[in-house]
Amino acid sequence: MSFRTTPSVDYVEDVSPGSGALPPRAWYASSDARSLSLNGSWRFRLSATAGAEDDSFAEEGYDAGNWAEVTVPGHWVLQGDGAFGSPIYTNHLYPFPVDPPHVPTENPTGDHLRVFDLPSDWPSDGGAVLRFDGVESCARVWLNGTELGEFKGSRLAHEFAVGELLKPGGNVLAVRVHQWSSGSYLEDQDQWWLPGIFRDVTLLHRPAAGVADFFVHASYDHTTGEGTLRVDSDAGGRVLVPALDIDVATGEPVTVTVEPWTAETPKLYDGVLATDGERVPLRIGFRTVVLEDGLVKVNGAAVLFKGVNRHEWHPERGRALDLETMREDVLLMKRHNLNAVRTSHYPPHPAFLDLCDEYGLWVIDECDLETHGFTEQDWRDNPVDDDRWTPALLDRAARMVERDKNHPSIVFWSLGNEAGTGRGLTAMAEWIHDRDPERLVHYEGDWNCRDTDVYSRMYAFHDEVEKIGQQLDGGTHKRRELPFIQCEYAHAMGNGPGGLADYQELFEKYDRLQGGFVWEWIDHGVKHAELGYAYGGDFGEELHDGNFVCDGLVFPDRTPSPGLIEYKKVIEPVHIEGDGANGAVRVTNKQDFADLSALAFEWSCQVDGETVESGSLAVPALAPGESAEVKLPEPPVDGRGGERQWTVRALLADDTSWAPKGHVVAWGQFAAGARPLPSFPATDRPVAEDGRITLGPAGFDARTGALLSIGGVEVGATPRLDVWRAPTDNDDGAEWQTDTRYGMLWRTLGLHRMRHRLVSVEAGDDALTVRTRVAPAAREVGLDTVYRWTSDGERLRLTVSVTPEGDWTVPLPRLGVRFGLPEADRVEWFGGGPGEAYPDTRTASMVGRWQSTVDRLQTPYVRPQENGARADVRWVELGGLRIEGDPEFWFTARRWTTEQLDAARHRTDLAAGDTVWVNLDHGLHGIGSQSCGPGPLPQYFLKAEPAEFSFVFSTTR
Ligand code: GAL
Repeated sequence: MSFRTTPSVDYVEDVSPGSGALPPRAWYASSDARSLSLNGSWRFRLSATAGAEDDSFAEEGYDAGNWAEVTVPGHWVLQGDGAFGSPIYTNHLYPFPVDPPHVPTENPTGDHLRVFDLPSDWPSDGGAVLRFDGVESCARVWLNGTELGEFKGSRLAHEFAVGELLKPGGNVLAVRVHQWSSGSYLEDQDQWWLPGIFRDVTLLHRPAAGVADFFVHASYDHTTGEGTLRVDSDAGGRVLVPALDIDVATGEPVTVTVEPWTAETPKLYDGVLATDGERVPLRIGFRTVVLEDGLVKVNGAAVLFKGVNRHEWHPERGRALDLETMREDVLLMKRHNLNAVRTSHYPPHPAFLDLCDEYGLWVIDECDLETHGFTEQDWRDNPVDDDRWTPALLDRAARMVERDKNHPSIVFWSLGNEAGTGRGLTAMAEWIHDRDPERLVHYEGDWNCRDTDVYSRMYAFHDEVEKIGQQLDGGTHKRRELPFIQCEYAHAMGNGPGGLADYQELFEKYDRLQGGFVWEWIDHGVKHAELGYAYGGDFGEELHDGNFVCDGLVFPDRTPSPGLIEYKKVIEPVHIEGDGANGAVRVTNKQDFADLSALAFEWSCQVDGETVESGSLAVPALAPGESAEVKLPEPPVDGRGGERQWTVRALLADDTSWAPKGHVVAWGQFAAGARPLPSFPATDRPVAEDGRITLGPAGFDARTGALLSIGGVEVGATPRLDVWRAPTDNDDGAEWQTDTRYGMLWRTLGLHRMRHRLVSVEAGDDALTVRTRVAPAAREVGLDTVYRWTSDGERLRLTVSVTPEGDWTVPLPRLGVRFGLPEADRVEWFGGGPGEAYPDTRTASMVGRWQSTVDRLQTPYVRPQENGARADVRWVELGGLRIEGDPEFWFTARRWTTEQLDAARHRTDLAAGDTVWVNLDHGLHGIGSQSCGPGPLPQYFLKAEPAEFSFVFSTTR
């Protein structure tokens, strides 16, 4: 064996996909062929450049005793407490000069070494392959001193034949991993750059006469109810499906009556592919995907995708996910009514696709390809339009399709993301169409749809989506014939996304609109000792995109954010609408395949938010699309004169694989009578004495008109007009946005530093009136604000009248009062809950009686911002006070001021002060999704207009 002392590193920048690896094939776990996981602790040495070290470490007998260790699968930058470098986050900018295919000389290179023995019963016949499921971005591999080859394509499997080289004991596996390579130009996805062997490494025994590759074709004819199965296999063999009495040779089609696979009814048949040497378990789902009548249809029915984009993410392990984490994602998706996932922007760990088959999710499997950074130079030199790169692109396409082709859940192959347009993409699409005509091809970057079977866009605004739905969008002839999906929409960064319900309404209204995929599933926050969760810039990156990497429906620890709760409600599979006048509900099955037999329905009647009676409701097992009116029982007789409402819920009738019996799938709520508003005669008159004014239970400062106490409750800061909120990511908006970005304009105008000028304090016969003008420095606009206090001796009413002065060209962030309480913890309210809501994120807000604490009212957005408002609040109790609204109001309470919230960059910057700050808002501006999409729709604007609203205060102590 000989070793070069100055290793050549040409392969790193070579545009070829690599050399030495076996052709791609289906990924499966054999029933009987042995395998050996090589996951675990590996010896590790980091060098600063690709060629810093020679290859002698790959030699048998090399002493790596003084090397560090890393865990495989893993990313070295997330291990070693910073000793191995740190992650870099950029959205689309390459963190190195755009000089394709060259990469920086500073190219962190991790040498990995693992010595292993074969189990004593490892078979001596046949061969063996060594499989890498994911290595970022380029690896060179040696076994027992022999070089096997090198490869790129980080999120794709690569196998090497190693049978000849294996020894019973002391096998030395050496892997050199370079962070940067020509492959990095193809992997410019919006995520952390994280080098390492981040997926499994496995040694697979390959029995003589074993299965090599196979392709399951299982279609369904919805007109006959029959499925046709044909399994093609390189190695021949027989296909057995006991439940269907199938025992047939590979390559032979067989047609039998079956239950089809859909995401709603994920029926899988267990089968076996048996050759003389091996048995491979099959999980067969019969379904047919076609483009017909301008629609994507599965088993004859058009599908409405209620999807999400999923990156692989774990806050400590990065993209090295274990099976339980993958399952958690799938369970959370199912429990929140999602039916589809786009594997943005690379094929996921294959086990995730098994879970999608099993639990039922439609999948867009996306290739590991993005060249977004070339947009900075008008796409010059884009690899997807340069024939030299085409072999690498085709290699990626083939590695995706061959690996994943046996998953019934996959309905689309996606060429990649944000890679512009070019011949290489066309070549990929042609290859895929040819290899798998039974699925459709997706790619968003080509709006002319030259290579694709669906017109796909990202972040199209509502009005454009509507036009597309109406087929008024024009475009190429081919495009006009295609259905439309939004492969990304509703950017879930920070508080939001707003406007989901408005999108869903369009998707449901126009056939051509087949739904969308919210961006994105999870915040990619990196767990951090001081910062809680780190985002871009927290590791001192010279280029970064801040918290744009935290834009998920679940927080980094997978706690659902309010955005996910909202999405669940917006896409619920059953629509329940009240018809108070008729004492009935209209129930509509919004599923595409399943009837309602899996659901049980329950009605309940609330008085002042408390359930007084409930029972079950018989709803027919409506077929998809069907709707029925169902009578509610007679409203319960109840002496109380409170506010009455009906709530109807659809629950799982039985345990399922993804949620227990009783899990709430959908609900509807409607009023059964008007709310009695709080009112009382103003009987008390303000009395001034010793610099204090007393009015009923309250004391005021006679000079300033400030409220000091109500009953025994000290008020730390008097209720004053407040218009400021800590701008959300969506308020700030992305720099390229065309809608107005109010976050910035608000600050420019000075809404975060409003001054309150006291005009007068007037103690009248039945009211204390405090007149003020609220305005920012340097501006002429202002809000003329009058606080009118009245009392009946026990209760205290505050009526706030606001009249804008001057030319207000921006909406207000909020309009209400803020005050401080020295003490408050437990909170109870009657109104919308349990979670936060804003004007365009309030669909999931359910009216009821809710309890929480000030701390639990906070929504832990990774970058602190406005959060935690509760909608439609009739009354709230906290800190010894009861506050009733006339009309209903938005309630927020926190242990820091809005200004502190605004200044914080991480949650750890927020410290509880000695005051609980309470906002009672008459209005809030919408949220929108302008961190990447549209701002709030006009109907959710909080315009600066004259307003009047009241609160009634009393004490609970
Ligand atoms: C899209 C892109 C995603 C992500 C998103 C914004 O343009 O495809 O990867 O960057 O915008 O978060």
